[in-house]
Amino acid sequence: MAKKAPHTRELWKSRTGLILAMAGGAIGLGNFLRFPVQAAENGGGAFMIPYIIAFFVIGIPLMWIECSIGRYGGARGHGTAPAIFNLIWKSPISRIIGVLGLWIPLIVVIYYIYIESWTLGYSIHFLLGTSPELAVGANNPDEFLKPYSNFLGSYIGAGGGDLLSPSNMAYFALIVTVALNLFILLRGVSRGIEAFAKFALPALFVMAIILLVRVLTLETPSGNAIEGLNFLWTPDLNALKNPGVWVAAAGQMFFTLSLGFGSMIVYSSYLRANQDVALNGLSSAAINETAEVVLGGSIAIPAAVAFFGVAGAISIAQSGAFNLGFVSLPAIFASMPAGQFLGFLWFFLLFFAGLTSSLFLIQTIVAFFEDEFKLSRKKSVLITMGIIVSSMLMIIFVNQTLDEWDFWAGTVGIVFFGLMEVIIFMWVFGGEKAWAEINRNGTIKVPRFFYYVLRYITPLFMFILLLWWGIELLPEQLEKTSWTIWVARGYLIVLFFVLAALVFMADKRGNRENES
Ligand code: ALA
Repeated sequence: MAKKAPHTRELWKSRTGLILAMAGGAIGLGNFLRFPVQAAENGGGAFMIPYIIAFFVIGIPLMWIECSIGRYGGARGHGTAPAIFNLIWKSPISRIIGVLGLWIPLIVVIYYIYIESWTLGYSIHFLLGTSPELAVGANNPDEFLKPYSNFLGSYIGAGGGDLLSPSNMAYFALIVTVALNLFILLRGVSRGIEAFAKFALPALFVMAIILLVRVLTLETPSGNAIEGLNFLWTPDLNALKNPGVWVAAAGQMFFTLSLGFGSMIVYSSYLRANQDVALNGLSSAAINETAEVVLGGSIAIPAAVAFFGVAGAISIAQSGAFNLGFVSLPAIFASMPAGQFLGFLWFFLLFFAGLTSSLFLIQTIVAFFEDEFKLSRKKSVLITMGIIVSSMLMIIFVNQTLDEWDFWAGTVGIVFFGLMEVIIFMWVFGGEKAWAEINRNGTIKVPRFFYYVLRYITPLFMFILLLWWGIELLPEQLEKTSWTIWVARGYLIVLFFVLAALVFMADKRGNRENES
């Protein structure tokens, strides 16, 4: 009997396209929403030194590791962590660890896409002029922000009202967001994801630059935007003694560069076998950091400082993860000339940032079905989206699920998986072999100094982070024991076992195929 034609994997079409796709996978809500909140909460300039150190000790090294693992797997027909780890280390343990490289992006994208849809809904409200009225004559920040905090409450709330009511818009925006992700993914890696990134990333930079120029010229009786930049860029060496600031900075580095998710491995598996990873990885990381520090850092914090002073901006950041981006910023923009347009730009920018990242996370699961079960692109995308959309009901209807999942997958999970990647690549695969793989066909030569960083300093740093989490944050997290929290945790466990079962089924399938 004639053998079935081997399954062919798509590759990135152009170098610009692949860098923009990878940078798009990194640039996301984390750059414009999470970063300003983390920086403000952790003392501005006090946060930036550990953050910059984390870029060199975790960010760049892990980017190289993930890109190399991905290219190595792609050349052998596999894009996802369970299969590639098993190529490197033949053991059921490597597969189980690899399951995390599917579980983490799946969990994160379920709540990520939901928040992404808010940004679309808000941008439509600003475009149509149905955003909240300003509190005219408000004489304190709370009164000023009240219409917008009420709006966020009704946006996420249960529904009712006229056609353009916030909650109806929320459902509409969610459906459009899911449909757009589906549409782009169905078009494939290069015709869908790459083509969209080539358009979305430049557009995102243009929108951010317009906002940045407007914000940096802000001057109000309470202060000006430059004070916000000073807050962010005046170093505070004393804060280096505070482990909490280090943990926050390192956590942000993982999240923003999309490291420890398993997804950068998948995107890199679409590189050609002889294509560079050293410069491509570095370029994607550098573009992300520009978007985060230069753009993300110069919009939300300076605007909030100009309106509420440094202390006010810090207290807004501390009052909840969404208050800076979804309450304060729209209120600030709405109170400026051309406010509707600025508000629209802000949320549409967030939407594009979110969309390129949700595609990136979803593609991980799609690649698993394509590579390991040899399913068609269409089937793989539809099954993956089906799992995501049905699981989203948990986020929408079961209280506290979002925070709980963000803790286990989006905070601790990514650091744990990142550590596993370093151990598997730099130690099990072997230091010198891994080093050669990182430098193979490199457009630049990575300085040997990084060999020691990758092998010793990066894993040690991550180990200490996890230890600190285990001692400081875990007990606090485990104290939460409401029934909704247990349902949220139960769902996490069930999804892990479902993915693990699929991984082992795929393995059996692969073995059978090899024998025949
Ligand atoms: N790296 C993505 C973000 O920053 C997940 O949102």
